[in-house]
Amino acid sequence: MAKSSKKKTIRYIDLFCGIGGFRIAIEQAAISLGVEVKCSMSSDIDLPCQKTYEANFSERPMGDIGEIDSQNIPDHDLLLAGFPCQPFSIIGHRKGFEDTRGTLFFEIARILESKKPIAFVLENVKMLKGHNKGKTLKRIIESLKDLGYICDFRILNALDFGLPQKRERIFIVGFNKSCQFYWPNGENKMKSLSEILEDNVPEQYYASDHIRKNRLKKHPPTDKLTIWHENKAGHISAYPYSCALRAGASYNYLLVNGERRLTPREMLRLQGFPEWFKIVCNYSQTRKQAGNSLPIPVAQSVISQLFIAQGWYNERCLIEYLKEHNADYQMKIFERKSVYGRKKAKVANR
Ligand SMILES: C[S@@+](CC[C@H](N)C(=O)[O-])C[C@H]1O[C@@H](n2cnc3c(N)ncnc32)[C@H](O)[C@@H]1O
Repeated sequence: MAKSSKKKTIRYIDLFCGIGGFRIAIEQAAISLGVEVKCSMSSDIDLPCQKTYEANFSERPMGDIGEIDSQNIPDHDLLLAGFPCQPFSIIGHRKGFEDTRGTLFFEIARILESKKPIAFVLENVKMLKGHNKGKTLKRIIESLKDLGYICDFRILNALDFGLPQKRERIFIVGFNKSCQFYWPNGENKMKSLSEILEDNVPEQYYASDHIRKNRLKKHPPTDKLTIWHENKAGHISAYPYSCALRAGASYNYLLVNGERRLTPREMLRLQGFPEWFKIVCNYSQTRKQAGNSLPIPVAQSVISQLFIAQGWYNERCLIEYLKEHNADYQMKIFERKSVYGRKKAKVANR
């Protein structure tokens, strides 16, 4: 087994932090691997998000990242950013990351260039992969490589990480030096909806008779708990899990058993937020915040793998972690020190 290395506090920054999905993910990853982490800075332009973040983490995020000079950003080891799925069409044809000027990705690139953290994790919608026939993502990856990072990306689905929500997201990881990084498998058993849904939900969450009758015309009632999803064409499907929460969707886009909306707590649970998480905004703001957030167990697994790749773990915790996650293959690699210690190992996919 490889020795745990550096006993140090890992400093990270939480960009486009929203209500802190990445922050909970890294804190949980740190606990499970027995390391210390410290948030050096957070930023989000949205005032209600700032309010929720402050209520939960006792720290008010800074505002517009475009207005924060790189020199005023503290040194950090790890940059986390769930950057918005802005129109990427602005990306042009010039070389290097300058090409991405005007996009929020550019803000990430300029901070990477100036602060040179050891590693980063970026998260975005799955659609980024196919946008402009793949050229947008290619440009982003090229920019990151130009900045000296070895990167890789993967689309991961929250359903594979224990959450009853079909939410596919692209994760991009990067390291300033080559290392042996394994994408998580996501073999966690999916929680059932009964573990997520509340009892005795107030009347205000129930859709009108008209909407409910309309749903029943399109879909028969189900015996088990289901979440009914209405697609753009008005077609209704019922699943034992939720389709992706969406910040700007119609209020009746997802209906529990075809009759009621999800409560704020249920939406947060669907993203993996813990029970202690405080809800301090009204329904529509919390719905937007939950819809914009990331699936915490997925981010946690990616960050855990990044910690392992960097040797940021306590050895005993690592053994437990690998056992729990059924990571036989990875365990063998760690046992074979010669392979683990290999200098030229690449950021590798399983
Ligand atoms: C996709 S959400 C990320 C949510 C976050 N990962 C979470 O778990 O809650 C993108 C966030 O970027 C923020 N944002 C957009 N433009 C920004 C800017 N110029 N500076 C800082 N934050 C910005 C939005 O307010 C939004 O909360």
